[in-house]
Formats: sequence, structure tokens, C-alpha cells
Amino acid sequence: MNLKFYIKTYGCQMNERDSESIASALIDAGFEMTLIEIEADILLFNTCSVREQAERKAVGKIGIVKKLKRKRPELIIGVFGCMAQSRKDELLIELPHLDFVVGTDKLYTIVDIVKEEIAGRRKIVMADVDSSVASLETMNGHIINSDVSNKDSIIASISLMRGCNRFCTYCIVPYVRGREKSREPSSILNEAEQLVARGIKEIMLLGQNVGAFGLDGRLRPDGDESPFADLLEELNKIEGLERIRFISPHPACFNDKLIQAVAALSKVCNNIHLPLQSGSNRILKAMHRGYTAEEYLSIVERLKALAPGVTFSTDIIVGFPGETDEDFNATRKVFNIVGFDNAFIFKYSPRRGTEAVELGDTVPIEDKEKRNHALLRDLKQITSGHNHAMLNKKVKILVEGVSKRNKNRWFGRTTSNNTVVFTPSPSILVGDVVELFIENTTSATLFGRLLN
Ligand code: 5AD
Ligand code: SF4
Repeated sequence: MNLKFYIKTYGCQMNERDSESIASALIDAGFEMTLIEIEADILLFNTCSVREQAERKAVGKIGIVKKLKRKRPELIIGVFGCMAQSRKDELLIELPHLDFVVGTDKLYTIVDIVKEEIAGRRKIVMADVDSSVASLETMNGHIINSDVSNKDSIIASISLMRGCNRFCTYCIVPYVRGREKSREPSSILNEAEQLVARGIKEIMLLGQNVGAFGLDGRLRPDGDESPFADLLEELNKIEGLERIRFISPHPACFNDKLIQAVAALSKVCNNIHLPLQSGSNRILKAMHRGYTAEEYLSIVERLKALAPGVTFSTDIIVGFPGETDEDFNATRKVFNIVGFDNAFIFKYSPRRGTEAVELGDTVPIEDKEKRNHALLRDLKQITSGHNHAMLNKKVKILVEGVSKRNKNRWFGRTTSNNTVVFTPSPSILVGDVVELFIENTTSATLFGRLLN
């Protein structure tokens, strides 16, 4: 009987994609995936370090599974990802029931490590930095022919690159994911073509800073070059592919060439996730973000002018060391000028080894909470205004499947990333693009009637 493995993933979509690759590699090696934790012979945790809370959650969970190991000593438990990279051997001391710890550059070794653990138990820590392209490429291409992702899904992700060179002062990513490395465009195009041949209609391109794709480690493009825009142009030519999305572009790399590509390429979606972090120039400088609020707004304005209907989402950090009410009001102002459709708001969390740690954690938690709530209230108001404005309009959606709330209804998203719920007709299939008339809205969802 095949040994079963279970993977729990914390953190971002890049981690989700890594978990898919590892799961596929394990399946190709003869293991079986289970979604039921207690059924597993091998428990794997893909961890995140971006905020303290993410680490705490994973450590708490791994602590709990100690009980399972007491009952079944043959159980193999491994940790990989960003927290594994940052804490290495330390994790074996804190969580002595762990069998192995694998860092971000060594994910491709996991199948061999699992086999080694089965053959003869020993504690393994594999977390050295490996900047070879091989370490990047072996992580990809495993998704095809596997049982990992939902077979009916029409959406898949592709990792374009790993690491980050920007060293924003609050961020641990450059320390745990290492220097930026881009994959070869030909390998990405090949992966995309294989996914489309398998029925994928929408591709999400992933990277810490996708705008730096192909820049060989430079912080911003020279003049009007944009290898990322060139890649979008090539992907746009793939027949059968309907939509291309990407996260996240850093504003410093969002030049005119990229703006024009987003506007001109028919498959590139009209929704841009553009991390703002702060709207105060003083704080942006202390964060080493490399742009001003005015420069950020100028990208948004140019996109709005060239790509009518474009919507924006963002990441914001509240309570960065030294953030005053005045700084926060500047953030709030930019937030409302852009009119974000979605925002991920984070309370500043000091990360060891980063530059900002030296500044202390000066903003009281109550102020962080207050600022967080103020932005969430603004967001709700903005989105319900946007949704209300969609009433009685026609929209096109890519059909994604059955609505989670009501099994008689289906849902899909517009290219601007609005979710629309509708009652399907018998001929409609997942993956179809259909036209709907918006009849009703709530602050979060649009309800449409089928037109074709
Ligand atoms: N504290 C709070 N939020 C952070 N982020 C990154 N580092 C920190 C930190 N130390 C947020 C940023 C980033 C998102 C992925 O996580 O907003 O865009
Ligand atoms: Fe972190 Fe800044 Fe790199 Fe994003 S761009 S991963 S916030 S260092």
C-alpha cells in the first residue's frame, strides 16, 4: 500500500504553488495524497515568516501534531518554506518531534529526504542557499499529469521567479527567499501551453516582484525595457488561454511599457494588485520603497486612462515604526483617491534581521487596530459604491463553478475581478465566458442574469 502524505500550507500563493509542486513530485514518486490529516503517514508543513502571527500559527499547529506522533512513532513530520529557512536547526530544538527542516532553495530535495526518512530515521536540516537555475526549474513542471489540483479547475498558477532584491526595511523575504532569480521565458511559455492543453483558461503569474522579471537582479528597468511585458505579450498569443493575472508588481518596475502592455493585451485582466504599503512619503522613504505617493498615483492614473474599468487592490502596513496620525491620514487619502476594490491590511510586525527592527515597534497595538479598522471601513464604502454602480450593466465572466453559498447557483469573475453569482442554464460549462446582466448587488457580490 502506498504511504500517504498530507500538506498544510501557510502564507502566500507562492507557497500554495510550491506545495502543489511538492505534492505532484511526491505523487510521481509513488506516494498518495490525502486531505485527511490523521490518515497520513507523512505530515508536511509549508510555512511563512512574513509576520510573526504566521509563524506562531504554524508552530502552534506543529506542536499539536506531537500527540499524533506519540501514538504513531512511525509518522514522519517535516517543515519547509520560509520559517524553515529562517529558523533552521532552531526548529528541531523547539519542536523535537520534527524529522526534517527544508529551506526555500532546497524544496526540490523533499522527495529524496522523505525516502531517506523512510529508510532510516535521522534528523535532517537542509537550508543552505542554492542560487542555481536548476533549483528553480526543478520546482516547476510537476503540476501536469498530477492529481494535486482540483481536476475541474480552470485556473492555475505559474511561478516566474523566486526571491527579492529590494530589501524593504520591514520585510524578511529577501533574507529567507534569497536573491531574485527569474526562470527562462521559454520554460514558462512551455508550462503555460501544457496547462492550456489540459483545459486551464486562466493563469496567475507569481513572483515577489513580477515587474523585475528578467532584469537580472536590477532594481528597476532601464528606460522603456520590460521583459515582463514581453512575456505577457507572448503568453497573450496562446490559443485557448482566456485570461492572465499576476501578483505582485512593485510600483518601481511599473513603467510605461508595462502600463501599455496591460492596456493593450486582450487576455491580461483589468485588475492590478499594486502594493502601496503607505501613502506617506516620509514612511515610504523609511520603508525603502523607492517611490513617492505621487509616483504611485501617477501609475494608477495612467492605467485608468489607458485601460477603462481597471480596478486595483493593494497591500498596506499600518503602524510602521514612527507612523503618526498625519502619516496615516496620508495613507488614507491615497487609499480613497485610488478607490481600491480590495486591500490586505497588515499591522506592522517586527521581523528579526530586517533593518526596521532597529527602529523598535513604536506604534501601540490599539493605534494599529484603529488604523486597520478605519481602512477596512473605507474599503467597504468604496466597494459597495463600486458594486452599486454595476447595477443594470452588462458584464462578461469566466465561469468558475458552483457557488459555495448556494448549490443552485454558479459563479465567475469579471476581468476586473468582481465575483458575479448567477443561475446557470443546462448548456453552460465551467470555463465558458458568458455575458450577464447585473440585477442585484451586495457589498461583496454581484448577482447577474444570463444573457446568452
Ligand atoms: N509586518 C507587517 N506586514 C508585512 N508585510 C511584509 N512584511 C511585513 C511586516 N514585517 C506585508 C506587506 C507585503 C505583504 C505580503 O505582507 O504588505 O506586501
Ligand atoms: Fe518584501 Fe519589498 Fe521584496 Fe515585497 S518588494 S518581497 S515587500 S522586500
